[in-house]
Amino acid sequence: GAPRPRLSFLGTGYLGATYAICFAELGYEVIGFDIDEAKIAKLAGGAVPFHEPGLDELLRRNLQSGRLRFSTSYAETADFADVHFICVGTPQRADGMGADLRYVEASVTNLAQHLSRKALIVGKSTVPVGTAEWIEQLVSKHAPAELGVEVAWSPEFLQEGFAVEDVLRPNRIVVGVKSDWANGMLYAAHKGVFDLAATEDREVPLVVTDFATAELVKVAANAFLATKISFINAMAEVCEVAGGDVTQLAKAIGYDPRIGNRFLQAGVGFGGGCLPKDIRAFQARAQELGAGEALRFLHEVDLINLRRRTRVVTLAAELLGRRHGPAGPDLSGTRIAVLGAAFKPNSDDVRDAPSLAVAAALAKAGADVRVYDPEGMGNAQLAQPDLTYTGSMVEAVTGAELVCVLTEWAEFRNADPVQIGELVANKRVIDGRNCLDATLWAQAGWQYRGMGRPQPRA
Ligand code: UDX
Repeated sequence: GAPRPRLSFLGTGYLGATYAICFAELGYEVIGFDIDEAKIAKLAGGAVPFHEPGLDELLRRNLQSGRLRFSTSYAETADFADVHFICVGTPQRADGMGADLRYVEASVTNLAQHLSRKALIVGKSTVPVGTAEWIEQLVSKHAPAELGVEVAWSPEFLQEGFAVEDVLRPNRIVVGVKSDWANGMLYAAHKGVFDLAATEDREVPLVVTDFATAELVKVAANAFLATKISFINAMAEVCEVAGGDVTQLAKAIGYDPRIGNRFLQAGVGFGGGCLPKDIRAFQARAQELGAGEALRFLHEVDLINLRRRTRVVTLAAELLGRRHGPAGPDLSGTRIAVLGAAFKPNSDDVRDAPSLAVAAALAKAGADVRVYDPEGMGNAQLAQPDLTYTGSMVEAVTGAELVCVLTEWAEFRNADPVQIGELVANKRVIDGRNCLDATLWAQAGWQYRGMGRPQPRA
C-alpha cells in the first residue's frame, strides 16, 4: 500500500502524549512536540508525567525502537511530519463558561510558519464548534500559500484509565474533512488502527463528515454522558423522598437495550477535566450561535450534578445530629474521614473532583476533615492545600465520627467494616458512590447512608 505518513502530536499533555506513544506502537514514525522543556525531557527520558496504566511500558519500548521522538522545536516538528495533530489544552475561560483557545492559536500559528512542504493539520483538542474554520484561516495567513497546507478535524474519546485501549482499539474514528486529499491522508494516518482491528477480527467504524459535525460529535457525546449521569442522580433525589432504591431502579431500566446499563451509577456525580467543563463550554457556544435554548437542559444537568455534593453535606449534618443554620450546617468539633480525592478510581486526577469539593465544603462547615486517596494525594495537595491529608486509609478513619466514601477505589470497596469499625469513634458511613455492601456494613453496626437508597436493615 501507500507509505505511511509521519505524524506529529503538538502538546504532550495527557491527550497528545498518549496518542504519540500509541501511534508509535502502531508502527508510525512519530514526533511529540511541547513548549514545556521539562515535560519533553521527561518523556524523552522514558517517564510518563501522569498516571495512565500501560503507557510507561509503551513509551520505553517505542523510544528504543526509534519510532518515537520528542522535541521542543517547531522547525523540527514541521520538518518531520506529514500529518500534525493539535492536542494542546483548551482550558475553561476565566468567565467560567467558554473555552480558552490561546494554546490552539499559538501552536497552529507557529507550526504553520515553519512548514516547508504540503501537510495536513488536524485538530483533536475539544473545542467550540467553528474552530476548524478559524484554524483554516490562521493557516492560510501563516503558512506559505504555495504549499497548499490543509486542515481537518478528528475528535478523541479517551477515558482516563483506559486511554491506551481507547487509542489502539477505538469504538469509532470520526474525521471532518474538506478534500479527498485530506480524507486520504487521515485514512493513511489511521491505517494502523484499522489493520490492528482486522487482525483481531474487529471493525472500527469510520465516520467521514464535515468540520462542524466532527467538532460537535465530541461535545454531543460528552453532553449525553453527563446527562445520563444527572438523569440517574435526579432519580436518586426522587428515591430519597419517595423511599425507593435508585440502584435497583437503574438496574431495572438498564435491561432495556435502548437505555443500556452503563453510566447509570448514582452517586456524588461527575467530575474530571472533561464533562463539567465541556457541558459549560457547549452551552456558551450554543448561546453565541443563537441556539441557547436547545441546550438549556444542560444547565439543569450541571445543577443536578452539583446538588449531589450538597446532599452529602446535608446527610453528614443529619448523621452527626447537627442543625442547619441559615448559612448551612455547623459541623464544628466533628471529625470526618473523606476517602477519595481523585474524580474517579484508578486515576490521580483531581480536577473538578466531587470528592475534594465535598471535603472542602465539610471543612468550611467547621469539621476536622482528614482526606486519603491511594493515588491522588499529590494533586489534591496542590488543588486544596488547606485540607488535612493522611498517609493511609487507617490513619484517615482513626478517631473519625463519620466516614465518607466519595471515590470508589477497590481499597475502599473491599475494606472490612468490622476492622474499620474498631478504629473509628462512631460507626457512621456515607457511601457517596453506592459502592459498599450496605447490608454488610449495617450488620457490622454501622449507620449507613447511600445516595438515593433507603437505609439497610441490619
Ligand atoms: C469522559 C468521557 O467518558 C470520555 O469519553 C471523554 O473523552 C472525556 O470525558 P473521563 O473524564 O475520563 O472521560 O471519565 P469518565 O469515566 O467518563 O467519568 C466521568 C465522571 O462521571 C467521573 O467523575 C465518574 O465518577 C462519573 N460517573 C461516571 C458517575 O458518576 N456515574 C456513572 O455512571 C459514570
